[in-house]
Amino acid sequence: MINLGDVFPNFSADSTDGPIKLHSYLGDKWGIIFSHPSDYTPVCTTELGTVAKMMPEFTKRNVKVMAISCDSVEDHLGWIKDVQAYNNLTGDFPYPIIADPDRDLAVTLGMIDPDEKTASGMPLTCRAVFIVGPDKKLKLSILYPATTGRNFNEILRVIDSLQLTSDKKVATPSGWCNGDNCMVLPSISPDEAKKMFPEHKVVQVPSGKEYIRTTPQPQ
Ligand code: BEZ
Repeated sequence: MINLGDVFPNFSADSTDGPIKLHSYLGDKWGIIFSHPSDYTPVCTTELGTVAKMMPEFTKRNVKVMAISCDSVEDHLGWIKDVQAYNNLTGDFPYPIIADPDRDLAVTLGMIDPDEKTASGMPLTCRAVFIVGPDKKLKLSILYPATTGRNFNEILRVIDSLQLTSDKKVATPSGWCNGDNCMVLPSISPDEAKKMFPEHKVVQVPSGKEYIRTTPQPQ
């Protein structure tokens, strides 16, 4: 189990783009690692295509993308042809798929889903999303069951929030999107808030406590 704030394991693995050692592969960029139960499965085929089409959005945000699936590089390379055909993609596949045929990474990263098994009874992994910061620490993890495909627009929205809040003393409210108003962090005193966020507004609530402080998104 990796907790938020832990240094993400610096694993070495084979991938469709050759051997990867995570920390040097990421360099000074952010990273997203998203796992798949298995190659040649329908929901995963839609997810890999969605992410391939969204690659310019990840690149724009300085994020390196990797998928992991519990099969071999050979299987991944065959499956990529299906992913491209199904999703109308041409050219080189834009991000690596890491191989994990012995499920070593699935165990290390806590991704085994006990409710999902292969036809031969082998446990499958869930759909994990890990976001790693430039400091190599885990910033976010979300686990979805194998039967629920992910919404990668939500993942982009989360990356925008993580990148903003890693630098500015704000938090982002429910449904926030880049450019929307933010909340001043509760740890900032009223005097500090006046200096740091001159345009912020304190919202009056029945408790009389002045904890809801909105501010335009800091640049
Ligand atoms: C899928 O990707 O379609 C899938 C994989 C494992 C279990 C359920 C669905």
